[in-house]
Amino acid sequence: MKIKGKQWRALWFENGELKLIDQRKLPYNLEIFTAKNVEDCAFAIKEMVVRGAPAIGAAAVYGMVLGKDNIKYTAEILRKTRPTANDLFFAIDYMIEKIKNGENELNAANEYVEDIINRCRRIGENGDKIIKDGMKILTHCNAGALATVDYGTALATIRIAHEKGKKIFVYADETRPRLQGLLTDWELEEEKIPHAVIADNAAGYFMKNGEIDMVITGADRIAKNGDFANKIGTYEKAVIAKENNIPFYVAAPISTFDKSIEDGSQIKIEERDRKELAVINEKTIMPEWTKVRNPAFDVTPSKYVTGYITEEKIIEKLIEL
Ligand code: MRU
Repeated sequence: MKIKGKQWRALWFENGELKLIDQRKLPYNLEIFTAKNVEDCAFAIKEMVVRGAPAIGAAAVYGMVLGKDNIKYTAEILRKTRPTANDLFFAIDYMIEKIKNGENELNAANEYVEDIINRCRRIGENGDKIIKDGMKILTHCNAGALATVDYGTALATIRIAHEKGKKIFVYADETRPRLQGLLTDWELEEEKIPHAVIADNAAGYFMKNGEIDMVITGADRIAKNGDFANKIGTYEKAVIAKENNIPFYVAAPISTFDKSIEDGSQIKIEERDRKELAVINEKTIMPEWTKVRNPAFDVTPSKYVTGYITEEKIIEKLIEL
C-alpha cells in the first residue's frame, strides 16, 4: 500500500522483532508498534494494534517465530487472542506443521506472508472482472491492505479496478464502534480513489435511492454452506442489498474458509469491551451507568450472497436477484 507515495506493509519482521503499523492510532498518527516477544504479539492482536483476518494470521506466524522456544505455550497464547477470524488458527496450524517438518521458522513465516499478499492481489484481479466502469460500490469495515498486510480483500478488487482505469466511487461505512471506515478512507485517500464515508445507518438510504450498484465486503470466517462472519453490521447491509436487488459479494482468501463447520451457527462471535462504544478518541460519550452489548461480528446467511471472490475464482452463489 502507498503511504505518502511510498510502499508500506501493515506489518513486517526486522532484526528479530515484529513491526506493526499501530492501527489504533490511525488515521491521525502513523506510529509503529514493536513486538519483541510472543506476549507483545498477543497484545497487538487482542488490542487491535493489528486487525483484519489475514493480517492477524500474518502477525501470528511471526508470533510463532518470536515464541519458537516454547511452541506449545506460544500457540496457546496466540489462539486465545481473538476467536472469530479463521486465519488466526489457520496460520498457527500452518506454523506448527512447518516446525514439525523441521523447517526454519522465519523462512516459513516469510513464505506465509508473501503468499497471503499474492493471494490478495489475485482476489483483486478476480474481483475486477465483475466491476464495471462507473460503478458505485459500498464496503463495510476495513478489508484493505491494513487488514491483510497488502492490497486487501474487498479493497483489492477496488484497487485493481481503479488501477485499470475504471471510474468507480466507493461508499465506506463508518463501522461503529471502532470506525474502521476511517481506515478504508485513509487507504482510498492515499490511492486517490473517489469515495465518501457514510454513517452505518445511511447505507439503506443510498441503496434505496439507486446510488449503490454493488456491495463488496471481506469476511472473518466462512462456513461450508457459505454463511459467513464479518464485522458487525454486515448482516443488515446484506439484507438491505437483497431487498434492493443489489449484488452482494464477499472477498476472502482460502485461509478464511473453515471447512470444519457446516454453517454460521457454529461460528464463535467475539464480544468486546464496553469502552469501544463508550469512548471515542479518548472522549467518553456515555454516562458511567450506561450498559452496552458489543458483539464485534455478525453472521450473514449465504442466501444473501451473490458470490465469493477468492484468489482461485469467483464462486457464484444461490441468490436470485
Ligand atoms: O475486528 P476487526 O477490525 O479485526 O474486524 C475484522 C475485519 O477487518 C473485517 O471484518 C473485515 O471485513 C474482514 S478481514 C479483511
